[in-house]
Amino acid sequence: MFVSDSLSVNEKGHLTIGGVDTVYLAEKYGTPLYVMDEASIRGALRDYKKSIDENYENGGMVAFASKACAFKAIYEIVKEEGCGADVVSGGELYTAIQAGFPPERLYFHGNFKTEDELAMALDYGVGRIIVDNGEELEALSAMAKARNVTANIYLRITPGVDAHTHSFIMTGQNDSKFGFTLETGEALQAAKKAAAMPNIALKGMHCHIGSQIFDEAPFAHTAELMIGFLAQVRDETGLTLTELNMGGGFGSRYVESDVVLPYGEYMRRIAGAMKEVAAKLSFPLPYIVIEPGRSIVGNAGITLYTVGSVKHIPGIRTFVIVDGGMTDNPRYALYQSKYTAVVANKANLPADQVVTIAGRCCESGDLIQEHTKLQPCQRGDIVAVMTTGAYNYSMASNYNRLPRPPIVMLSGGKSYVAVRRESLADLCCNDL
Ligand code: LLP
Repeated sequence: MFVSDSLSVNEKGHLTIGGVDTVYLAEKYGTPLYVMDEASIRGALRDYKKSIDENYENGGMVAFASKACAFKAIYEIVKEEGCGADVVSGGELYTAIQAGFPPERLYFHGNFKTEDELAMALDYGVGRIIVDNGEELEALSAMAKARNVTANIYLRITPGVDAHTHSFIMTGQNDSKFGFTLETGEALQAAKKAAAMPNIALKGMHCHIGSQIFDEAPFAHTAELMIGFLAQVRDETGLTLTELNMGGGFGSRYVESDVVLPYGEYMRRIAGAMKEVAAKLSFPLPYIVIEPGRSIVGNAGITLYTVGSVKHIPGIRTFVIVDGGMTDNPRYALYQSKYTAVVANKANLPADQVVTIAGRCCESGDLIQEHTKLQPCQRGDIVAVMTTGAYNYSMASNYNRLPRPPIVMLSGGKSYVAVRRESLADLCCNDL
């Protein structure tokens, strides 16, 4: 019934996360509430690091894709674990720096970086700027020149690989707004141009084929294409690039039927494919960077809600209406994402009711999950939705002027507030 190892049921029949009673957490901090288990985040980062150590002798970096969940405490944890971070906006970059994150371990992405953001990246000295298009390359070169610095860059390559996932989160196919297309020769042209540009140091290449991908074959295929491309760049420009960033996208478990590969398996396949092609083309193995986001934080998080009402429509369906919704979790509304839920204060009872969990927003599409199994429940019960650690808080909004929930972190059996609950006053703080 539980999709994450950190979840269990205690002697009171309450759901626990990281050994802590979720009903107690709901009482102490109020609902809606995001709860994240630090041990699970650290464990995932360590597993990925180990998978590089065990499968890839040429070394590498695990860079947490912070768009999955960005707040200061997360950057602190990632920093402590010796990992890097992918940031995608001035906001994420600023938050990382505020958390004391070493800028040299930051990878700055995005298909539109403003001049202000590029200036921030150069001034902070971020490790790598991932250039997405030709105009950005020109602008960055000019800005680096004006500052008399060198920008260390990767180019984002669109490898032309279709990963099997929701079309909104597929990014490796040719029909994509991201990156330089490999198949059309645009990528090679950009590499030639970047290699010759003043104040630009082309260090390597980047690609990212999509998100919530369970199959390792598209990653292995992409790795082959990318090593082939690095060899082509060497042959055509004489420049041997020494770094390859393979992006993220490894799937997380949302429902029991999701079959998630152990993280080591992704690296084993990617490393195997890279080594095979590199040997064939006599290309020296590059340093590898991977950027998992969802799989680091997804299963570390749950959301707790209080049930407001249960509306039974005979012959149609039963709605369980909770005190949050698409404002704290827009993923069902956007992608029809699957989730598993449980009544946290009755977690030992059979989940024998088929219900639709709906939010409180003035919108019929404000649903967390349709036709899902839940224990019998009523007003005042606590509903826990699992696997909400990724792309929930980071995609939350204030629609209907609802304050965003806090994030409570668990560490060593204790809880602490990492992000405080927004107040009503916060909602007006920018209104002049
Ligand atoms: N690297 C790059 C360049 C990315 O664009 C992404 C995600 C990642 C790494 C991390 O991918 P992950 O390991 O988390 O799958 N909002 C969507 C997901 C969008 C992913 C965007 N890019 C969702 O809720 O499913």
